[in-house]
Amino acid sequence: MIPEETLAATAQALVACGKGLLAMDESTPTCNERFAATGIPQTESARRAWRELLVTAPGLGTSVSGAILFDETIRQSDRHGNRFVDLLTAVGVIPGIKVDLGAKELALHPGEKVTEGLDGLRGRLHEYGLMGARFAKWRAVIGIGDNLPGPACIDANAQALARYAALCQEVGLVPIVEPEVLMEGRHTMQRCSEVTHAVLRAVFDALDVQGVVLEAMVLKANMVLPGLDCPEQAPADVVARATLAGLRRTVPAAVVGIAFLSGGQSAELASARLNAMNVEHETSAGRSPWPLVFSFGRALQQPALQIWRGQEENVLAAQHALIHRANCNGAAVRGSYTPSMEHESALRLAS
Ligand code: 13P
Repeated sequence: MIPEETLAATAQALVACGKGLLAMDESTPTCNERFAATGIPQTESARRAWRELLVTAPGLGTSVSGAILFDETIRQSDRHGNRFVDLLTAVGVIPGIKVDLGAKELALHPGEKVTEGLDGLRGRLHEYGLMGARFAKWRAVIGIGDNLPGPACIDANAQALARYAALCQEVGLVPIVEPEVLMEGRHTMQRCSEVTHAVLRAVFDALDVQGVVLEAMVLKANMVLPGLDCPEQAPADVVARATLAGLRRTVPAAVVGIAFLSGGQSAELASARLNAMNVEHETSAGRSPWPLVFSFGRALQQPALQIWRGQEENVLAAQHALIHRANCNGAAVRGSYTPSMEHESALRLAS
């Protein structure tokens, strides 16, 4: 069994020093959907080439502490036969693995989902550990609708997250616990805040019952946002205050860090809001006990994917776009991101 201090040190390294995580763990259907939208062939070789582009981007380790891989990806190598896990480790990026098997319909609860993947999980975690993964991720999906989510959905997902996290710690992987409250819908920011509050309370109750060591885990959280179709949107400082107030009321101080997901926000908005969170964090009223970092998928990858489009001649420009986003988010973790960083980089790209 890996000692608790080793797990705690890995968890701390994931949220340290102005860095965050690159989520590149899209399942094959999700990756294919994004490829289809960009006119890229939906093949194993295109997915491998895309993941090679991400993993080999020069300077990745400057702002990225860890990368979350998918089952297909953790088994893949670059064109020279170097395993992605080894390439990441060589540049100081900690490899991790998504281990849930996706959100499925919750029985007897139309419109609600529960994440599956607990059966056989101990064996799979063990195998991923042998392949070099040092942390894992499990995502629960909670939608907001009329009278949704209900207690059955919140409870089932909290239970699954807690059992997954306990198994991870037993096997020697740091669990990233992700209960994602979705942005889709017309709901207000207040409603998102209430649902996020209920979900986090249930999740930390369940983690406690299962004996999960909070000092050796990272919470992957959604920001508190108005629904995408809510007529009343909110500026970044208001989002930051609502998000932090909710987290302080529900997340124990022992948790090592909080890494926000981007959830479909534009890349620039995600950076601005993460920055606002860290600026707020510096004020005495907004002081929070945890580092506030990023674990972005789309907000890191999407601009680069639009440039790449499956073409070898676009690889360098796409890598530049990825690193630019990573560095913007690194700055946001330090509270020093400004929209002018976007402009400066665009000039550099053009020159
Ligand atoms: P997004 O940042 O695209 O939401 O992805 C993060 C993630 O890992 C979702 O599980």
